[in-house]
Amino acid sequence: MPHVTGTFATSPHVVPTHRAIPRLVSDPVTELARMGTDASGQIVRLHLGPFRPYLVSHPDHVQQVLKTDWTNFVREGVFWRPLQRLIGHESILGEGEGWASARKILQPLFTARYVASLAEDMADIIAERVAGLGDLTRGDSPIDVEHHMTSIVNQAVIKVLFGGRISPETAESLAPEFATCATSIGFRMLLPFASYSIRLPGDRAFLRAAKKIDEIVYPLIERAKRENNDGKEVVSALLTARLEKEGRADLRQVRDDLVNIYGAASETTAMSLIWLWQVLHDHPDVNARLQEEIDRVVGGGPVRPSHVAEMPYLRAVLQELLRVYPNAWVVPRQTVADTVIGGVPVKAGSQVLISPYTTHRLEEFWPRPLEFDPGRWTDDTGERRHRYAFIPFGLGPHVCLGQHLFYIEASLVIANLMSRYRPVVANPQKLRPVPGGATLRPKQKLFLHLQPIERNRAA
Ligand code: HEM
Repeated sequence: MPHVTGTFATSPHVVPTHRAIPRLVSDPVTELARMGTDASGQIVRLHLGPFRPYLVSHPDHVQQVLKTDWTNFVREGVFWRPLQRLIGHESILGEGEGWASARKILQPLFTARYVASLAEDMADIIAERVAGLGDLTRGDSPIDVEHHMTSIVNQAVIKVLFGGRISPETAESLAPEFATCATSIGFRMLLPFASYSIRLPGDRAFLRAAKKIDEIVYPLIERAKRENNDGKEVVSALLTARLEKEGRADLRQVRDDLVNIYGAASETTAMSLIWLWQVLHDHPDVNARLQEEIDRVVGGGPVRPSHVAEMPYLRAVLQELLRVYPNAWVVPRQTVADTVIGGVPVKAGSQVLISPYTTHRLEEFWPRPLEFDPGRWTDDTGERRHRYAFIPFGLGPHVCLGQHLFYIEASLVIANLMSRYRPVVANPQKLRPVPGGATLRPKQKLFLHLQPIERNRAA
């Protein structure tokens, strides 16, 4: 069906409650995408009882929400409110003045150049952790992919944030606390208007985990403040930047910045790395080409950040991975004033769901959308593609700050694993995407055999 524009009012495609609820309960990710693709990217209104969000997936409409009219689509409402008790109201994942000042301060710490300056340390820790996996796989026992990808990414992110100020054990304990926060807010999302004076299931676990996170993060900030050592890691750079720009570095503000970044950086990256291994199993040709590139560029030596730019096929595999499995699978907004999207009138206070997972499956923009094909990124079709058809990192003023960090970190993990071992999926299967906290994850567990590559290499 053609995309409808213009000033006249159009009705949205409506999915009535008796159809929407069973479909979303049985398979939320796939069914939501199907609702968007069945409407060829036109606006869909989901009737979920009294809650009636709009699904926005056409790139023109995504552009309106995220860029041209972005101040009318804010991060408020049912999806964001429960998280605000952890991330604060005034930081980078928020809105308004607090967001704008955090963005100005944080942006310089995540440019390609700044990330490159942190990447050597990150490369060391990733290499060390990947080498350590060898001990676990002796005796032919496979590793739990989710556990180890989460642990490696967690250590790398924490190194970037806190440098050497945190012990590996303490670092290890942060990830489960964040996971508890993300998974314990289900009832708050279902009952967004329930007062916080009423205890809901999950509240106690949430508050306990948020307290533990603070007990780890505050002392690290205080220590960095005392040391005042001009370090490059984010906590020191952040303290310096806030002092320079604002004349003071409020501990609560710095805590919010760090907690927001840790939350945005770790689970997203770790989850992408789970899908990869099943995809490589399903596409031996992609696996062989990737292996060849890594062997040629890295050889038997340690993987350095400078190798990453020399591996364009690895970059294409990651882009295609983020197209097919964008882990920020929905990006919610609330409208401030009455508006019109794609000809459909939308009232102030409505919930709008951008769904990268759906947009990335629109046939008009992605021929053979369900096929995993890194070739899309190595030919010149990208130049002709709608800029808002590929939105794994969002776009517009709130675009993800961590793209460079993601590509370098994920590349280092993959290149380390594939230059040391031949990873083989122990339990190949069709993975089913499910929402896990704020990100997309496979429902099933995946295990990997790591067969060491025999060669004389530097550790
Ligand atoms: C696969 C990995 C990642 C994905 C898929 C991802 C996705 C996204 C998306 C979709 C947004 C836009 C949210 C919105 O518009 O409301 C976003 C924002 C953000 N991301 Fe990422 N992200 C990833 C990794 C990272 C990393 C490694 C960092 C570390 C710095 C990071 C930090 C942020 C921050 C701070 C924002 C908020 C930016 C703002 O609102 O100004 N992300 N991310």
